[in-house]
Amino acid sequence: MNDLLKGQVAIVTGGNAGIGKAISQKLAAEGARLVILGTNQETGDAAAAEIRQLHPASEAKFFSVDISKTNSVDEIIKNVVETYGQVDILVNNAGITSDQLLMKMSEEEWDRVLDINLKSCYNTCRAVVRSMMKARKGKIINISSVVGLMGNAGQVNYAASKAGMIGFTKALAKELAARNILVNCIAPGFIQTRMTDALNEAQKTSILQQIPLGKMGQVDDIANTVWFLATPLSNYITGQVITVDGGLVM
Ligand SMILES: NC(=O)c1ccc[n+]([C@@H]2O[C@H](COP(=O)([O-])OP(=O)(O)OC[C@H]3O[C@@H](n4cnc5c(N)ncnc54)[C@H](O)[C@@H]3O)[C@@H](O)[C@H]2O)c1
Repeated sequence: MNDLLKGQVAIVTGGNAGIGKAISQKLAAEGARLVILGTNQETGDAAAAEIRQLHPASEAKFFSVDISKTNSVDEIIKNVVETYGQVDILVNNAGITSDQLLMKMSEEEWDRVLDINLKSCYNTCRAVVRSMMKARKGKIINISSVVGLMGNAGQVNYAASKAGMIGFTKALAKELAARNILVNCIAPGFIQTRMTDALNEAQKTSILQQIPLGKMGQVDDIANTVWFLATPLSNYITGQVITVDGGLVM
């Protein structure tokens, strides 16, 4: 630990599972005070308790909120700003898939994925930006996907939401650069989580054949990149998409 994030207030959406939990653990280990937002109270409370035990200074807390709901997110983040005084780091990690070929995709499947993956960024960013502008500093890190860069059959909703996050990131980076608020995107490739555990063996073999490094990534590969983007080590980087994918997209 090198204390680069000591005392900084970080919000991580979906920080109770998979990649988000690894991000939460990493930021807490590096000294951040941690607020996790998610929908599952049980796993959320358990993740926060686990992180608090390992890193008491993180004071890790979980708040249950559906990040696709604008008013609920507004209310929660307002409370966080009132309680902590500011938000220094926002990681938009929560996301879902609901795969289907376009011909068979229902309007509900389309809307749900776009609302949870993309509208959520509008909700959370709009809610934190005022406090970051006041402080004249902030780091926003959006977890997109390589699928937003290269597409994937059966995932038009997911690919559109993740490509949308990339456009959102670049536009917001330009809006906020003068206020010293840096906005970047990470595009993970195939990372070993329950999202990729759901793939069948044939799909996994085909994916591995396309990855130059010949293996899936680990959640810590993403957490380490988030850490870099959250610290002052990356203070001259904004509006970028960093692929963490074993060379899949190049
Ligand atoms: N796993 C991969 O290989 C991979 C690859 C590329 C991108 N990603 C992206 O990384 C992020 C994390 O993926 P993961 O594999 O850890 O998934 P996961 O399913 O393990 O975790 C997703 C998290 O989002 C939360 N969440 C879902 N809907 C929510 C809602 N409406 N409101 C609040 N929280 C909600 C869940 O509770 C969970 O904590 C996602 O955005 C995903 O698209 C994952």
